[in-house]
Amino acid sequence: MHFQEKSFLKEIDFNASELTYLIDFAIHLKALKQQHIPHPYLAGKNIALLFEKTSTRTRSAFTVAASDLGAHPEFLGKEDIQLGKKESVSDTAKVLGSMFDGIEFRGFDQQVVERLAADSNVPVWNGLTDSWHPTQMIADFMTLKEQFGTLADKTIAYVGDGRNNVANSLLVTGAILGVSIHIAAPASLQPEKWVRKLAEQYANESGATIFITDQVEEAVKGADALYTDVWVSMGEEIDVTERINVLLPYQINASLMKKTGKADTIILHCLPAFHDQQTVMGKQLAEQFQVPALEITDDVFKSERSKVFEQAGNRMHAIKAIMAATLGNLFIPTSFFEQK
Ligand code: CP
Ligand code: NVA
Repeated sequence: MHFQEKSFLKEIDFNASELTYLIDFAIHLKALKQQHIPHPYLAGKNIALLFEKTSTRTRSAFTVAASDLGAHPEFLGKEDIQLGKKESVSDTAKVLGSMFDGIEFRGFDQQVVERLAADSNVPVWNGLTDSWHPTQMIADFMTLKEQFGTLADKTIAYVGDGRNNVANSLLVTGAILGVSIHIAAPASLQPEKWVRKLAEQYANESGATIFITDQVEEAVKGADALYTDVWVSMGEEIDVTERINVLLPYQINASLMKKTGKADTIILHCLPAFHDQQTVMGKQLAEQFQVPALEITDDVFKSERSKVFEQAGNRMHAIKAIMAATLGNLFIPTSFFEQK
């Protein structure tokens, strides 16, 4: 069994053919859902959803996916349980593992999700840590595949904060899958050495190009997708003014879109996004910095090239595929995954 009882804590937990299987399985589950065909692979199972950080998409996706699979999802927020305050991660893992069949964790420290997996004896899924956002990746590469019919010879240019969880995950996932990743970020926000090294190892095998630069126009040239994320991630304690000033030249806008040299480049963003002033923070930052938007302008965000809401919707199908594959006792012949 390739997936059964396995955790998904970071992208390198699965190889290229396994990640591809998850992407294709997510596309299949999406079709089942659209055709109202039931798929209760996890009937009777119970899933714990642990959130130390806030979430709209990930929490909703895990909840709906679990319900569609016939499982019961139970939300355990950071104010609801003892984790970290009165009880160690290890003890919590043992308790939850004795009651639940699978555990999702969103939080700060990657070591916490690793400990939960080590001590719970059930599959654990990383719903985002400071280091990685693996369930997001299945949805993102699924969206790319849906748009272009293939991942072969594709290039994603990520523009903005190049050392956050999403940038790390894109770099390594692209490298595994053979999708070229360009990152445009100021030197102070480029991927850390160890992440870059890890990506390069996989890229050597897959043939993906890894290109990291502070020259935004160089990075977007020829890109099939432009991707950005918030400039300040959850839990970061930094000088926001300094961060925004250094990232303003890395905004995705109509002028940058033209620099790809391609008419069919799509726009991706994991969301939430600061593209207008319809949020308390968006309004405050826009006033302070005298700009109508931060990482992406409203016209581009709402343009027909923007696939951000398809991408967000795909989170549910992706997470469903991950949970069903690792907990659903699926029949997947081993030969399917034999490495070429
Ligand atoms: N993209 C993403 O993970 O969104 P949430 O923070 O809303 O879950
Ligand atoms: N980098 C962002 C991703 C949100 C989905 C954060 O960690 O806040």
